[in-house]
Amino acid sequence: MIGFILPLLGRLHPLLVHLPIGILIFGILLIFWQKKDSTAFNPVIRLAFLLGGVSAALAGISGFFQYQFEGFAWDSIQNHLIAGVFSAAGSFYLFTRIKDETIFTSKIKLQVLALFIVLTVTGHLGGNISRGEEYLLEVLPAEIQALAGYEAVPEKPLEIPEQGWEEIEFYGEVVQPILNQNCKSCHNSRNLKGELNLTSFGELLKGGENGDVLKAGNPELSALFAKLILPLEDEDHMPPKEKRQPSEEEIELIKSWIASGASQNTTLGQAGVAEKLVEPFFHKEVIPFYPLTEIPAVPIDTLSRLRKAGFFSESVLQGSSWLKVSCINFPDFTDDNWILLKSVKGQIAYLDLSGTQVTEGILDSIANLPNLTVLKLNQTTLSGTQLGALSDCKNLKILYLNSTLTNLENLSALNQHPSLQKVFAFQTPAGDSPNTGKFSFKLETGNYTLPKIPADTIVY
Ligand code: HEC
Repeated sequence: MIGFILPLLGRLHPLLVHLPIGILIFGILLIFWQKKDSTAFNPVIRLAFLLGGVSAALAGISGFFQYQFEGFAWDSIQNHLIAGVFSAAGSFYLFTRIKDETIFTSKIKLQVLALFIVLTVTGHLGGNISRGEEYLLEVLPAEIQALAGYEAVPEKPLEIPEQGWEEIEFYGEVVQPILNQNCKSCHNSRNLKGELNLTSFGELLKGGENGDVLKAGNPELSALFAKLILPLEDEDHMPPKEKRQPSEEEIELIKSWIASGASQNTTLGQAGVAEKLVEPFFHKEVIPFYPLTEIPAVPIDTLSRLRKAGFFSESVLQGSSWLKVSCINFPDFTDDNWILLKSVKGQIAYLDLSGTQVTEGILDSIANLPNLTVLKLNQTTLSGTQLGALSDCKNLKILYLNSTLTNLENLSALNQHPSLQKVFAFQTPAGDSPNTGKFSFKLETGNYTLPKIPADTIVY
């Protein structure tokens, strides 16, 4: 019946600690406040150190119960407790030390200052335990955080490489990151809720206050999984409902890890995990479409000169220095007009020469555009004999050759181009040939054939 008293006293610790702090600081201030040759404050100062000492001792006792009943690790509270004992002892010492002196010597003042420092350290260490060491740092500007050697590294969400995911370690690279993101804040060596540490495989195996949390091969009997699927309202649900919850897919992964035997070293492949389970976590590399290099913007008057000459030109994206230049209103453009574009050669990232009078030779000029990313040569008479020149355009990603005379053989000069991703060759000899070849880029010719599925070949 009275079993609740000690845990309750433990939980009162955060409240009780403020008493000695307030009372002792009051006493300390009076020491410095007292006028020379006066003893007016002495009784009050003595009372402050007496009450401060008693309340510090009480706070220490309640703190000890909190440590006992709330699953704190000894390592994490040790220094706080020692500093607390010194604070209480220091208060009692000063209570006996100060009698009826009319002047406080520097020695006394130094002792009082020392008490103040010990008290501050105690409070600070206590705050670190309950709020985390980063509690104050977190709200400071990044520069000050950096000075204090603190880097805010939020736990990274789970990411799985798309290539070779079968080979990665199920526990270390999948389960542990999920635990880090969702459970670690309460289940680590400093904050040992339920006496359970979920920061490593070894700790996980030790279980919590109610024993093992893992039963290999049986997720339903493993608290590590079973608590996650309890209704949110259930008080045993993990993580507590006001906290960030793992996603369904993450819970599913924990389940299949336990089902597969909860071993430390199996890989996703060995555990027989289906691709659709890991797919939501695939890390896709995002390569910026236009070059990342910085380049000065084209001056306004150059732009208006281009427009006067008949080109259409604008930024590829708002605020970007990369230019899109098109001959949509300049069908008479010939190889000789190339000179008009020379001044913006560095900035052209998108060039549309569709429907113009260009010949094969234009490809040699185009090869001098270092940042060209998209090139359109639709509806021209090019057969592509010089396409190999485009190997110099190290950023070229998309090439349009629709309604030209390009054939597969000429296109093969672009095979293994470092950046080319797609070539469109609708209505070309290349598109008409039955075999569209195998290139490093994707060739779109409009001759779609559905890939054969096994059912197509079944003969009844
Ligand atoms: C906000 C803090 C918090 C977070 C986050 C949290 N837990 Fe807990 N967990 C607790 C507390 C508190 C207990 C003790 C509950 C009790 O004793 O009634 C506990 C107990 C447990 C236990 C039971 C241990 C035992 O032996 O009794 C398991 C298992 C558990 N948590 C798993 C998890 C998992 C898995 C996650 C992450 C998906 C998680 N917890 C996230 C606070 C948290």
